[in-house]
Amino acid sequence: MRRKLVIGNWKMNGSRVANAELLAALKEAGPSVAEVAVCAPAPYLADVALSLQGASISWGAQDCSAFESGAYTGEVSASMLAEFGCRYVLVGHSERRAFHAESDQLVADKAKAALAHKLTPVVCVGETLAEREAGQTEAVVKRQLSAVIHTLAHCISQVVVAYEPVWAIGTGKTASPEQAQAVHALLRAQLKAATEKAGEMKILYGGSVKADNAATLFAQPDIDGGLIGGAALKAADFTAICRAAA
Ligand code: 13P
Repeated sequence: MRRKLVIGNWKMNGSRVANAELLAALKEAGPSVAEVAVCAPAPYLADVALSLQGASISWGAQDCSAFESGAYTGEVSASMLAEFGCRYVLVGHSERRAFHAESDQLVADKAKAALAHKLTPVVCVGETLAEREAGQTEAVVKRQLSAVIHTLAHCISQVVVAYEPVWAIGTGKTASPEQAQAVHALLRAQLKAATEKAGEMKILYGGSVKADNAATLFAQPDIDGGLIGGAALKAADFTAICRAAA
């Protein structure tokens, strides 16, 4: 039985004061049956690490460099994230693929850099609305995951995969539990062809997950939790989603 995982992706939101209030409320809510993590903007990681020390919530970052160190102005390396106690790092979020032109191979290289520093990469895949309407969903998510499988080889079982249909992100249009499950099953089958540990791997769903739709999504056999954007910024909503994963 895979333990459910719920990760809050704060994106470029928050402030030191707002983060402290949010984390205090999450800690106050107490431990959850599901594993819970928050992915904060890099400048706040020291604060987050201090606040969550000893709590049952892990933390992570939203991106990392594919490179170890050097002349890469503005980038943050996986080793730096590890120094701040990060457990997770998102790689290949659709906003990075779209706004920073991240290729499938770059995303795979970032996942490799994360693993080299014992961070768990959360590899995000997902199709746009145009791709879904053109019947390309399967081809797109398989292509995105395939680059990571080839690059990580036998280490692929150490990643978390997140299926986030781009058309469902921040739009209020959630994939139906059946739509999401269908893609998760495809991804699981692709992982099975690559590793005998595919049955133990977590595949999260992201895209307009809210307190009122989380339970039915998380009840699907191949949905192992969620990657939560907007609703992760409100303690009551995020806590309710974490409870729905129990
Ligand atoms: P929303 O939950 O705001 O749709 O965002 C999902 C997401 O992109 C999480 O990474």
